[in-house]
Amino acid sequence: MDSSLPLILSRDGAGPLHLQLAEQFRAAIRDGRLQAGHRLPSTRDLAKELSVSRTVAQAAYDQLHAEGWIAGKTGSGTYVADVVPLQPAQRAARPPQPEAEELLSLRPGIPYIGAEADPGWRRAWREVSTQVPARGYDHPAGLPALRAALAEHVGRVRGIACGPENLLVTNGTTHGLRLLLAVTRAAGDRIAIEDPGYLNAVTAAHDHGLQVVDIPVDEDGLWVDDLGPDLAAVYVTPSHQYPLGGRLPVARRNELIRWARRTGATLIEDDYDSEFRYDVAPLPALAQLDLDRVVHLGTLSKMLSPSLRLGWLVASPSVVDRLADHRAASGDWPGWPMQTALLAMLRDGYLDQVVRRSRRLYAERRNHACSVLTPYGQIVGQDAGLHITLVLPDSFDDRAVAAKARAAGVVVAPLSEYRRSIPGPPGLVIGYATPSTEDLNRALQILSGVLES
Ligand SMILES: Cc1ncc(COP(=O)(O)O)c(C=O)c1O
Repeated sequence: MDSSLPLILSRDGAGPLHLQLAEQFRAAIRDGRLQAGHRLPSTRDLAKELSVSRTVAQAAYDQLHAEGWIAGKTGSGTYVADVVPLQPAQRAARPPQPEAEELLSLRPGIPYIGAEADPGWRRAWREVSTQVPARGYDHPAGLPALRAALAEHVGRVRGIACGPENLLVTNGTTHGLRLLLAVTRAAGDRIAIEDPGYLNAVTAAHDHGLQVVDIPVDEDGLWVDDLGPDLAAVYVTPSHQYPLGGRLPVARRNELIRWARRTGATLIEDDYDSEFRYDVAPLPALAQLDLDRVVHLGTLSKMLSPSLRLGWLVASPSVVDRLADHRAASGDWPGWPMQTALLAMLRDGYLDQVVRRSRRLYAERRNHACSVLTPYGQIVGQDAGLHITLVLPDSFDDRAVAAKARAAGVVVAPLSEYRRSIPGPPGLVIGYATPSTEDLNRALQILSGVLES
């Protein structure tokens, strides 16, 4: 019996012969050319007809058999099965996306990452490669040596007097925040979050069943006077309010701490980009003022890269212990290689070096961005961080401006994207750290053309 199908096998790189054969039978069954019950040739006849080895024909039948397209036993013949096999799920066609590399991104949040690996970076990973991981689980709060090095680091650069017992290594700010909410908060608790503010924090609160209370901010940051008595926690970005960029003045910091002591609420200090500060004096971290009331979140995301997924949480030892106990059960803590690399980077001064170098680069870029954009609105938040916010006249629709900029090849974030219930002027949140200096100049040129029009 011949196969009665025009079977064509290609030996020019079209893949293994048995897979080609199986696919042609599949297609014929699928489109009805071969009906249920149709008897197929024996593997011997098929092999002869196609001038292939019998193993090829047998392998094709085995595959079709396993997938349910054909049935039958050796000796009694092979038939097309009458059960139609499950078709693979059709994936929804993705709308065409503009090529990422065609767009210049001024979205905030990503540091400049050069094309070459720094010698300091390579040294750290060489150091990792010479060591052997522990023969068991590492401490769920983080490697003891890293916790000690981080305690020294946050003491030196953020003025927080603490020891290893206050440190927990995280996969970044968002991870630390979620862990904290999961372990220390109950569904229904009220948490105050800046509005406009960091939307990941709002999502984290909602995911844990918390009730989010929107608190206004001004050019200095959070309106501390608006905090009510029944809040369990406040999430705040005092060193560079996200996204408006205010630096919470000392008087408001003190007032915030006094309020937390009075009410018993926890202050969650997101210190995401405090390493970058230009021509202004440092302000005390909230955690420096009272580590019993404050949980401080730090991250490598703005210093090195968000792709490393590494950060730290500073809190009282009792909070750290509770979080570590939770992680011992969940198994959810950063892996040994990344922790060991960070330890090496801290020990040999590489992290400090990167921050010093980036600070110089970002200061120049910030100056340039401010000078190009000044004619179009009020620039705020330029004293620190990796982004500025251009507050636009009320007549502007910032989403429409961002859409126009995108069509012209530049991605920026509209300020209204960060607002929830508290109204405020339109604006653009503009990150100046990510692109090369040349791309930044081009992007700013395009953006000013859009704003001009
Ligand atoms: C306000 C704020 N906090 C924290 C982060 C960093 O989060 P993670 O450490 O999880 O990367 C960002 C990043 O954009 C941010 O904007």
